[in-house]
Amino acid sequence: MTRYRLTGASVPVAGAQWERKDDDREIARRVLNLLADRRMLWKDFSLEIEEHCVTSANRTREQIGVHLDNPEISTELARRLELLQRLFRDFVDEVGPHGGDWDRRRSPMGTDPLSMALGRLRGLVGLQSASWPLTTTWTCRRSWPRSCRIKPAGSSSASTAPRHDEGASTRTRGGNGMSTELERLAEAAQSDGWASISGADVEIFRRDAQALGWREIPMRRGDPGVAVLRPVTREAARPRSLSAVHGLGAQPLHTDGAHLFEPPDLVLLASQDSSPTPTLLWHTRKPGRRQAPHQALQHGIFLVHNRQDSFFTPAVIGGVHRFDPVCMSPCDSRAHTAAAYFAEQLEHAEQHNWSGSQVLLIDNRHVLHARAAVADKDEERTLTRVAFNTGDSR
Ligand SMILES: [Fe+2]
Repeated sequence: MTRYRLTGASVPVAGAQWERKDDDREIARRVLNLLADRRMLWKDFSLEIEEHCVTSANRTREQIGVHLDNPEISTELARRLELLQRLFRDFVDEVGPHGGDWDRRRSPMGTDPLSMALGRLRGLVGLQSASWPLTTTWTCRRSWPRSCRIKPAGSSSASTAPRHDEGASTRTRGGNGMSTELERLAEAAQSDGWASISGADVEIFRRDAQALGWREIPMRRGDPGVAVLRPVTREAARPRSLSAVHGLGAQPLHTDGAHLFEPPDLVLLASQDSSPTPTLLWHTRKPGRRQAPHQALQHGIFLVHNRQDSFFTPAVIGGVHRFDPVCMSPCDSRAHTAAAYFAEQLEHAEQHNWSGSQVLLIDNRHVLHARAAVADKDEERTLTRVAFNTGDSR
């Protein structure tokens, strides 16, 4: 829908000046026109000149930057354009700032490196831009809910908020200036990665979340917001799920909803009974022994499989992590490095042991989690899961 802004008015003859506002469709259309005009994206490989390709890539980066500066752009489109810009930047990094030293790296046999870099760029740019939903309106969202960023008056600090089973005796209800239990748990989760409390009622949390304007996120289209999780064998599992690959065995570290363009911010897990099968939690800010491979995490490209909504992304954007080895396929060597890094971090994960009735709230943007192998005679282990987006994307 075309949008207009009022820029002035005239009297005594009633009149008004209107200016057309850009929206995401218009901005995306301009970027697609920009890409269509890039010779390096369609000319025969053998006719390309390295220096010209670098110049073209740099010019494309600059022009994408101009669109990123458009105040009308939504957060989601900005994120997609930043990824597009990154693809061109990676190409320039690969070729060199001037392309002048390319010959020194040329292989005497096989496909020449420029053609390989161009092929990779073309493939990723084409598939990335093809996934743009030009017929829908993207929405803006904040990184964290206001309730989590601004400590309510009278509430406990994040450092003293419940972390591990401090009991439900301090429960309060919102509406009188006091924070709810859910808000305090969310503050603690934002600070520490996760927080838990015993004896809590999931339905009360759901009501509090609704009052805060949080949105429940089903993991699959058409599913209810509340899911009941039980261990299942590979044969009984839903297709393309972690259980379909790992069955009753140990799961790898993952982000819930990694296949969604916007994974949930918070994941609430609740138990009614004790279970000897722990949940494993790994905070991305507390990695294990090996230094995090930042280049691989931020620049390795994964294909996220989600049927017609599949898309490309790195594992880390702006410090927010997304990884699930079942729905994310590495597309390049850096993504393989990132996947290997997450796999080896499992041994550094912390255990959350389920003891009676408990609620565990996980910061799904900065913490990866996993389920340990199902313990003997624990096939009836049951958890309730509710995932939330806390931004203002409604
Ligand atoms: Fe999970």
